[in-house]
Amino acid sequence: MRLRTPEIADAKRIWEIAARSRELDLNSSYCYLMWCRDHRETSIVAELDGRTVGFVTGYLRPSAPSALFVWQVAVDPDFRGRGVGLAMLGALEHRCSVTTIETTITRDNAGSIAMFTALARNRGTSIGRRPLFEPEDFPDGHSAEELYTIGPFPRIGAA
Ligand SMILES: CC(C)(COP(=O)(O)OP(=O)(O)OC[C@H]1O[C@@H](n2cnc3c(N)ncnc32)[C@H](O)[C@@H]1OP(=O)(O)O)[C@@H](O)C(=O)NCCC(=O)NCCS
Repeated sequence: MRLRTPEIADAKRIWEIAARSRELDLNSSYCYLMWCRDHRETSIVAELDGRTVGFVTGYLRPSAPSALFVWQVAVDPDFRGRGVGLAMLGALEHRCSVTTIETTITRDNAGSIAMFTALARNRGTSIGRRPLFEPEDFPDGHSAEELYTIGPFPRIGAA
């Protein structure tokens, strides 16, 4: 598996994987282009045999830049269950050298909850959950999104 920083040319395939995920909110194609331009250092794609099979888009929270907010993560359905999701998150945490990872997950997304729980377990750290966005915060009947915080991540060389 090759893990690398996305480029503008990756935005089409990222959009396609998001569309095929059946779980993610599909954002505009323009949005994924902007992510590959302006937030590429805090995002990652995974390639298998030269084909992009997964992505994570994220950003450092402006008010708390030691926290990486994972905006979207998806693995093409044909390549799930092989550790691609965990590998991308681990590599991104390492590259960004953040203290915590945050993400929001709907209550029914067992796969995503399992993946972030496995990340915390593998890195020997904690995972916490609290309400963030309620259905009434959305204009379109969207389900509640709970905020998961994973960390703190131990840093090599830290006292
Ligand atoms: C969530 C997702 C990214 C996981 O990708 P993946 O490459 O299949 O995950 P991994 O193979 O790295 O698995 C990581 C861990 O999660 C567990 N897991 C993954 N999918 C699971 C599922 N559907 N049900 C239960 N556990 C699951 C794995 O068993 C593994 O745990 P383990 O190390 O204890 O065995 C993928 O299922 C996906 O793209 N889903 C649709 C998009 C989505 O929901 N994104 C998250 C929105 S917040």
